[in-house]
Amino acid sequence: MTTIAGLRDQLCLARQHSAAVGGDVNVILVPTMGALHDGHLALVKRARELGDIVVVSIFVNPLQFNAGEDLGTYPRTLESDVEALAVLGVSLVFAPSAREMYPGGKTETRVSAGHVGTLYEGAARPDHFDGMLTVVAKLLNIVTPDVVMFGQKDAQQVFLVQRMATELNLEVSVEVVETVREPGGLALSSRNTYLDDAQREGARALSAGLVAAASVASNGANAAIEAARALIAQQPLVKLDYLEAVDPATFLPVEGDHRGPARMLVAATVGTTRLIDNAELDLTPAAAAPHE
Ligand code: PAF
Repeated sequence: MTTIAGLRDQLCLARQHSAAVGGDVNVILVPTMGALHDGHLALVKRARELGDIVVVSIFVNPLQFNAGEDLGTYPRTLESDVEALAVLGVSLVFAPSAREMYPGGKTETRVSAGHVGTLYEGAARPDHFDGMLTVVAKLLNIVTPDVVMFGQKDAQQVFLVQRMATELNLEVSVEVVETVREPGGLALSSRNTYLDDAQREGARALSAGLVAAASVASNGANAAIEAARALIAQQPLVKLDYLEAVDPATFLPVEGDHRGPARMLVAATVGTTRLIDNAELDLTPAAAAPHE
């Protein structure tokens, strides 16, 4: 479907049909920008477990790209995306034009991602998260799903969407699916297609750095950050942007003496490609060895 009205009509029919055959009328939305890879397909497979009516949106949202970013060159593979989704039994694909989503050009009304939206990815990409939340809010209003799916790879996005859902009392539950990785550990991303072989090899340092951080997390956040930094520094093709351990409850950086769960975030540029990754850290000190 390419129009909002058409999608709403089809959704109405799908709901009526499911109810008539005694099926599950839950609607599950998987928002994407297309160029689907196995990470997206993992979201879709989980969505299929959660409800019969799965809607995948494919929309490269201009509002979340800054000038000089890859809006014009972002991979667009609609035909093969739709084929892959049909194989997985997706009921509806919503692929609107920018004009359909923003009829007057850019919308004046936007959702603000607040202070957290200006940190980490938001510091490198001003207004990115306002644009992301705005389109997610629009998609939620258009589809009115029971569940919306997100990948853990975009941890800051997940935090901000969950907070928007809570703070704006949205009647939707946010389901998060673990990051899917290549065998060498690199998190799947549509932007990985920009990497040549040497860059792809270097980019593996991001996930390896996260593993190194997790292995010393019982020594505290600073030790974890340093372990990751040392590993990433060995790769000349990888230009580190930030490496931060954040409190999952607030998404603010943890203090050096923070104990308990945290999430480590990493972002780097490899060639001209910006990559992000993250992992859970347990900053609980190892139990002291028992005395003989
Ligand atoms: O994660 C993405 O692909 C995008 O940010 C999203 C959620 C589809 C909104 O444009």
